[in-house]
Amino acid sequence: MEFDQWFNAQLNARPIDPIRLAEPVPVADLPTPALLLDEARFEANLARMALWSKTTGIALRPHSKMHKCPVIAHRQLALGAEGICCAKVSEAEVMQRAGIESILITSPVVDQRTITRVSELARQNAQLIVVVDHPEAVMRLEAALAQTRTTLKILIDIDPGLGRTGIAPNEALLALLQMIDRDCPHLMFLGLQTYAGHCMHIPEFDKRKSKYQRALAAGAEARNVVERAGHSVQLMSGGGTGSIDFEAELGILNEIQAGSYAFMDIEYRDIESNNGPTFEDFSVALTVLVTLISQPKPRTVTVDAGFKSLASDKMPPQFKDVDGLNYYWGGDEHGIVALDNPSRTLQLGDKLELLTPHCDPTVNLHDYYYVVRDGYVQELWPISTRGCSQ
Ligand SMILES: Cc1ncc(COP(=O)(O)O)c(C=O)c1O
Repeated sequence: MEFDQWFNAQLNARPIDPIRLAEPVPVADLPTPALLLDEARFEANLARMALWSKTTGIALRPHSKMHKCPVIAHRQLALGAEGICCAKVSEAEVMQRAGIESILITSPVVDQRTITRVSELARQNAQLIVVVDHPEAVMRLEAALAQTRTTLKILIDIDPGLGRTGIAPNEALLALLQMIDRDCPHLMFLGLQTYAGHCMHIPEFDKRKSKYQRALAAGAEARNVVERAGHSVQLMSGGGTGSIDFEAELGILNEIQAGSYAFMDIEYRDIESNNGPTFEDFSVALTVLVTLISQPKPRTVTVDAGFKSLASDKMPPQFKDVDGLNYYWGGDEHGIVALDNPSRTLQLGDKLELLTPHCDPTVNLHDYYYVVRDGYVQELWPISTRGCSQ
């Protein structure tokens, strides 16, 4: 089998539709670790963000790298989202197969094989948008599109000080813009992306706001550069869950790419908001159900979820609805839990829910969401773009 044939086949084999069980299953009967999605909280989060978007007039293009699930993307679109973001081309390929067309790929695409795939996606989908930040990659993209006589919308990525992707709003931007204008008839300049991810989780509200404001000045300056060069900027995309409290006031973006708001996690819950010491605008809808499988010592118990079920790049997970339990990483498959006067009695086989430290990489460790309503699961939603990192 040819490599590309295999690559496409494995993407096409991914499930994209929800699975409905004939009979609902009580949460306590699920095999663990299981990724649970509290449907009522999740729906409230989506509705809250849809209202925010409507009220502020700032379009919402949720980042699907967080949930990786076309079922969820369709729900976001049904509530008025402008489209979705994908981090990677393979994510976009799966989402497009699931019937989603308004897709923005938020990372630059450079290698030839991936560029060819982008041009194939663009051939099938006139709504596709891709960010660019380098003349060489732009010329490769132009050449691939010219071969299939396809046009593609692009955003130039502006670095707001994160230092990850993008360019500064200076002569480099002007030169790139002029090159696109002059040499790239198949690329349609639509606007700018400026994503200040380094500001999103700053716990103190005022500090977050002022750092974000400074970061977005790069976006505003970039828009000036582009407009002075005689181009209009239709789309200014960026932002995330941690910036919604100030986007409207700043007035720089006309589209936000928030992702985590749909599920939330410990890291986001613990930032200060406009209204109080924690970020209660959205509630935590995502948990990992675990089983108490051993009690090696009188004051510790062991649960069956470690690095393979919970992202470990941030703080340790926390138990939902039980106090006095402190989770410590116990390796790939285990968590060791110190008992500090727990608020309920525990016994072998008990099922407990853990709040996840960081939702995006946690989701990427699971195949399905177990969608919970009133303590029962009747639907499973596939995490279709799990592992789509290419
Ligand atoms: C480019 C980009 N846009 C948007 C987001 C979504 O941000 P959040 O999950 O903080 O809402 C991310 C997340 O890392 C991102 O990398």
